[in-house]
Amino acid sequence: MDPKALETEALGAIAAAKSLPELEEARIRFLGRKAELPQALREVRDRETGMALNELRERLEAAVAQRREAIERAELDRRLGEEAVDVTLPGEDLPLGHLHPITHIRRAVEDAFLGLGYEVRDDREVETVEYNFDKLAFAPTHSSRSPRDTFFLGGGRVLRTETSPSQIHMMEEREPPIYMVSIGRTYRRDAITATRYPIFHQFEGLAVDRGLTLADLKGTLLHVMRALYGEDRRVRFRTHFFPFTEPSIEPDVSCGICGGEGCRTCKHSGWIEMGGAGMVDPRVFENVGIDSEEWSGFAFGCGLERTAQLRHDIPDIRALWEGDLRVLRQF
Ligand code: DAH
Repeated sequence: MDPKALETEALGAIAAAKSLPELEEARIRFLGRKAELPQALREVRDRETGMALNELRERLEAAVAQRREAIERAELDRRLGEEAVDVTLPGEDLPLGHLHPITHIRRAVEDAFLGLGYEVRDDREVETVEYNFDKLAFAPTHSSRSPRDTFFLGGGRVLRTETSPSQIHMMEEREPPIYMVSIGRTYRRDAITATRYPIFHQFEGLAVDRGLTLADLKGTLLHVMRALYGEDRRVRFRTHFFPFTEPSIEPDVSCGICGGEGCRTCKHSGWIEMGGAGMVDPRVFENVGIDSEEWSGFAFGCGLERTAQLRHDIPDIRALWEGDLRVLRQF
């Protein structure tokens, strides 16, 4: 074996290795158990040759280690260059949703009443005939007791046709004074049109205290209508009938589109109907065991869709239920 020639050849092969597998191949070829140099080392007899060959082996091992480091560093440099993340690139656009207009209105209503010290109540949507009609003093012949108007579920249960049953639950659960607003879904068997939908939302207010009058009701509604529609609004009352209030009224709010001058939206009257209200009927107090000689109260109910339509000038109620993003994105 010619150590000089072997060294040249081995160093050449190690330097030529371009990857770790190639380097390993070279290492086995020159330093592996069956390679020429280790074989010679095993057979060597004299000290001098032994030392020389050992040194040769150490030089080759050092060359392999050095080459390995170089290859690894080059590989790391390559990856750092190629796989670099440019943190200054704009990120992927994650579309952000927003609240539905009905949820906006609901929160505006809640805010307006919380500001008056009312508590906000959520209630059941499946009611009984007793709570939806009887305890609210609906006459036995009232038309909304008909399955043509109301969804009956069997077993004396109905989908509530209004949020008014909340009044009964509240008065049964709590002693007056009571100031509450209940907001949620209500159901009626109406065909779907531009102004009606079989599911809709109402907010229902109830105040029970000593010495409440229609003036308190009017002031409360004025506050809420101004919170919802703007400070320049006026409120007026028209007489009406509801089974659970006496007297009953329908509040109108001045039209915001024409400022009360008269336009198509307000049917040229300058006023827009806002729902129902009145002083709690003594029969209702009787039904829940509250003494109507000591306590008085007022109540009111309004549709949220109607409120949203008026606030945003939405001509067709269906837009609020169809989930068409082209429409909803505008609010
Ligand atoms: N519940 C009535 C409706 O849906 C609205 C209403 C009228 C609610 C008078 C009231 C009230 O609380 O006092 O048409």
